[in-house]
Amino acid sequence: MSDRSVSDRADALVLFGATGDLARKKLFPALFHLAENGELDMPVVGVARSDWDDEQLREYAAEAVRHSVGRVSKKRLATFVERLRYVQGDYGELATHKALAEILAERALPVIYLAIPPSIFPTVVQGLQKVGLAERGRVVVEKPFGRDRSSAQDLNACLSSAFDQDAIFRIDHYLGKESVEGLLAFRFANTLLEPIWNRRYVANVQVTFAESFGTEGRAGFFDDVGTVRDVVQNHLLQTVALLAMEPPISDTADAYRDEEVRVLRQVEPMDPASTVVGQYVGYLDEDGVKPESTTETFVATRLFVDSWRWAGVPFYLRAGKYLPGSATEAVIELHRPPRLLFAGQRAGVPEANRLHLRLGHGDGVTLSMQAKVPGPDMVTQEVALDVDFEDALGLRREAYERLLRDAIVGLRHRFAREDTIDEEWRIVDPILERDDRPRPYYKGTWGPEGVDGIAGGHWHTVSLKK
Ligand code: NDP
Ligand code: BG6
Repeated sequence: MSDRSVSDRADALVLFGATGDLARKKLFPALFHLAENGELDMPVVGVARSDWDDEQLREYAAEAVRHSVGRVSKKRLATFVERLRYVQGDYGELATHKALAEILAERALPVIYLAIPPSIFPTVVQGLQKVGLAERGRVVVEKPFGRDRSSAQDLNACLSSAFDQDAIFRIDHYLGKESVEGLLAFRFANTLLEPIWNRRYVANVQVTFAESFGTEGRAGFFDDVGTVRDVVQNHLLQTVALLAMEPPISDTADAYRDEEVRVLRQVEPMDPASTVVGQYVGYLDEDGVKPESTTETFVATRLFVDSWRWAGVPFYLRAGKYLPGSATEAVIELHRPPRLLFAGQRAGVPEANRLHLRLGHGDGVTLSMQAKVPGPDMVTQEVALDVDFEDALGLRREAYERLLRDAIVGLRHRFAREDTIDEEWRIVDPILERDDRPRPYYKGTWGPEGVDGIAGGHWHTVSLKK
């Protein structure tokens, strides 16, 4: 049974935070592509504090599209931006919400996207409630959803007091990535893999999220958040869930989310003794960073999924800024074969097979196998079976484009459920509560001293975009 065909299509899109960074970098380009595909047949209303008018918002959106897409004809841009309207005002003022409600008077089902700092979610929700927009709208909430388990529960209570649970769409844009969603297809559409996808064959799982750059002008925002809240609580744990979960019992959104939450419940909380947090040298000098800030820009940890399938298999996670390159990659390492055939002095035991699942740039799969080296001895060397998904399957849609489309048509598969987020916070909370200083590391290295010990001295090489 599937609930992928949904009919309650939204008839307006509201963008709180329309003058912000996320709107510029991701949302306007995504909306442009939807419009070009004929999937945005509705007004788009931006709401923010800047003293702009419709024309200024249109120019901002057009520039965002040019920056992301490259050269686009004036005609195509004009066709896109003509649907944009702007409401200027502070979110704390009722007048702002009234002005919005007036524009939406004829609209039955607006999607309301909150691309705003999490601290002002409650203010906006109250405003929407007062003007009657909450009861007929769908709300899309950006991550991070809360600051910890308890604030996420408060935020959820605030949203649920105004919106039905089914009308709350919690974004984790990794769920919208074709490559991340593809993990499930890869696992469950290939019967070859299922027999070995467990503790009997898998020695360990490693997930790397590496960025070659730093806070990119958003140090003030980042300093309040840190790597664990920014990417581990959401993107990395979602990836772990998709790698480790059982097959859903059907294709409904809730069947998927039931399995995600079931496996996350079996993940033990992050243990400070098996975790290293770091901060790159130079971070404290950046504008917006608090003096003596203890915010982490790097984390590496060892987790266990205490399930029948995975008991005893370590899941190593590392994420950080200013690392030697950019990559998002999961590596599944199998156990080594027994010595037997390879007992000659030169031979030793062949390296273990590894499956590299590239989830970021150049996404695809590499399976490292052992093959015999030509010659008299039984000696093997590693060879790679490699697929680049863009070469094999063609271009895919960007995560934000897919997620905006899903929110418009009311498809909930690719959004996080309340209980999933609650489990994710439960897992990371012990590390958020730490009060020690992060260990320093130099830009362009793989993190601070002690990181190798987390993965038994043995982080795999991942394929980096410089
Ligand atoms: P910005 O600080 O760039 O933008 C914030 C937006 O909110 C601006 O449009 C600002 O309006 C508006 N705003 C803030 N306070 C008020 C207020 N009191 N009244 C009216 N308008 C207000 O934030 P980002 O775009 O970077 O981030 C937005 C959300 O998206 C955050 O939750 C963040 O965590 C999340 N996110 C961001 C990513 C990114 O790459 N930027 C990536 C993933 C998630 P104005 O500027 O006109 O004052
Ligand atoms: C965002 C984080 O959620 O994900 C950013 O806030 C990070 O700090 C980004 O850079 C990474 O996304 P992607 O799609 O480039 O892997």
